[in-house]
Amino acid sequence: MTGTTSREPRPPSDSALILPRYLREPEDSRTPVGYAGYRSTALRAPLRTPVDLPQRLTEVTGPVLGEDRVTAGHADLTLRLGGEAQGQRIIVFGRVLDSDGRPVPNTLVEVWQANAAGRYRHVVDNWPAPLDPHFDGLGRVMTDGLGRYELTTIKPGAYPWGNHHNAWRPAHIHFSLFGQAFPQRLVTQMYFPGDPLFGQDPIFNAIPPSARHRAISTFDLERTQPDWALAFQWDIVLRGSDQTPFETEDDGDVA
Ligand SMILES: [Fe+2]
Repeated sequence: MTGTTSREPRPPSDSALILPRYLREPEDSRTPVGYAGYRSTALRAPLRTPVDLPQRLTEVTGPVLGEDRVTAGHADLTLRLGGEAQGQRIIVFGRVLDSDGRPVPNTLVEVWQANAAGRYRHVVDNWPAPLDPHFDGLGRVMTDGLGRYELTTIKPGAYPWGNHHNAWRPAHIHFSLFGQAFPQRLVTQMYFPGDPLFGQDPIFNAIPPSARHRAISTFDLERTQPDWALAFQWDIVLRGSDQTPFETEDDGDVA
């Protein structure tokens, strides 16, 4: 799904609710599900055009994770398991916006990332970089009434991933956004400015060239806290000409 709501006339529905429909972004601005340089996509990219399932009452009114289950501690990834994480402390902040620049409040933003050495706390990640006993790499936060979110974490390290000779992922943080219903989920990755690994990374380069800059955060000296943490801003735009490049649901491995 693309997670963008259509304003076109809607077909008759089976309830009095106005049910959302979704439009696909144009082909030339969409990150493809299959990309030749990203080898494993050849095995999982669908060969036929995906079919949009209609969203009816059950899909748009089912329970989602309530904001009362998200605490302030979830937004600080540096204090976990009884200690402090190793690495460069950073603040990642921004807004979730719609195509008209309006804030999207009460949206669940979840992140997962490698530690400072570039290793995930995950059963399939066993390359010889150290695990951090005080870093699990998982965070979540709700956007406020102005669509803002803020996380405190450490800058993730680069890691090798075997896609091609000497393949290394640029430093990145995985993001998931939930809307008002479970079908309204979007997944993407945030990168850091000036990363020397961009040129050889097929996941980054699968994004159409005109959209790649929207996947890269911006260093913010104003929000950088003296003697404490660097700050990076990353706004997430759900649709329109400034849309953040999102992954598809068929593109969900841990790389
Ligand atoms: Fe990753």
